[in-house]
Amino acid sequence: MTMSQEPLIMPAAETIAIGIETSCDETAVAVVRLNRDASGDILSNIIRSQWEQHRPFGGVVPEIAARAHMECIAEIAAEAISRSGIDPGRLDCVAATAGPGLIGGLLVGLTFAKGFALALGKPLVAVNHLEAHALTAGLTNGIAPPYLLLLVSGGHTQTVLVRGVGDYQRIGSTIDDALGEAFDKTAKILGLGFPGGPAVEAAAKPGDPRRFDFPRPMKGRPEPHFSFAGLKTAVRREAQRQAPLSSATVADLTASFEAAVCDSVTDRCRLAYEVAAAQASEMSSSDAPLPLVVAGGVAANTRLRQALQEFVGRMGTIVVFPPLALCTDNGAMIAWTGAQHLIRGQTSAHDVPARARWPLDDTAAPIIGKGRNGPKA
Ligand code: KG4
Ligand code: ZN
Repeated sequence: MTMSQEPLIMPAAETIAIGIETSCDETAVAVVRLNRDASGDILSNIIRSQWEQHRPFGGVVPEIAARAHMECIAEIAAEAISRSGIDPGRLDCVAATAGPGLIGGLLVGLTFAKGFALALGKPLVAVNHLEAHALTAGLTNGIAPPYLLLLVSGGHTQTVLVRGVGDYQRIGSTIDDALGEAFDKTAKILGLGFPGGPAVEAAAKPGDPRRFDFPRPMKGRPEPHFSFAGLKTAVRREAQRQAPLSSATVADLTASFEAAVCDSVTDRCRLAYEVAAAQASEMSSSDAPLPLVVAGGVAANTRLRQALQEFVGRMGTIVVFPPLALCTDNGAMIAWTGAQHLIRGQTSAHDVPARARWPLDDTAAPIIGKGRNGPKA
């Protein structure tokens, strides 16, 4: 792999893309313009969450998600186009998430995109959802590769060296639960509701992060991976020991959980940063420190943000948090990634499949999901 010399190429003309995202529990469509100076503008960005439909089940139910996407995708796409103020004929491509994610939802969005592209006579770009998270900081903060990405969402926890568009090196990945999943499961154990992340954060606010000395998963281990299943189990055991739980104990349990998460994540980031910075400096003449970019829903967490700020201070670099609404799943990141591929002449055939599993770096050794479905991450 070589370092991309022109990570954000200047498009020959303004490029306008519509992006469709249906990989999990949000139906999202956006229209984005990639300008000639390589900057981007979001012309419209519509997100409809399905939380209410999944809440009674305490988690995302794939069949409910697919049906909910189907019921509103056409309406949301029409709204995104109308709010963008552009004529559909002016769109240069139709981009849609093709994976990884829940297959039913992916099929709804990708099939809709194929039909729409065909009707418009415009190219289709099948987008990798992880790549879209990885490139969002270019749209929102004008940041160009190389940088180290920390992706912490409900489905994924990875560190990735972003060398350029289409050029990714996965460094660390979770060996069990994703970080958002650990928040959601911890919330469930403590009866805090769904989605768990914001509920855990709210409960933890008045808590004492030192009361319970939970394990710091993987801390000090030489391989840069993550693990959160054991931490969740430690919270469950302690909660059973402390039962019946007072709200003060729940506050201390969640605060101590967050403290363990922050310690573990920053330790894993330090290792990933060392690997990434060494690689980046080998391939580029720039001596600017490699920035850290954070994406995914867990980037909303205040304690984690503070811990990452302190971490980059120690490393002598900066951390970039794209605006929260664009850290979580959205159509703008899909449209932006679609436009980046379009200007590189990379479009998709109409028989492109939806893929439940689609690693960003397919040269990296699979960490989980090595079975017949192929590597998960
Ligand atoms: O990126 P995202 O919106 O969806 C995907 O998983 O792709 O991330 C959702 C995850 C959920 O697990 C949610 O509990 C977590 O992000 N989350 C948080 C917070 N807000 C959302 N976790 C910790 N603290 C938060 N404030
Ligand atoms: Zn996501």
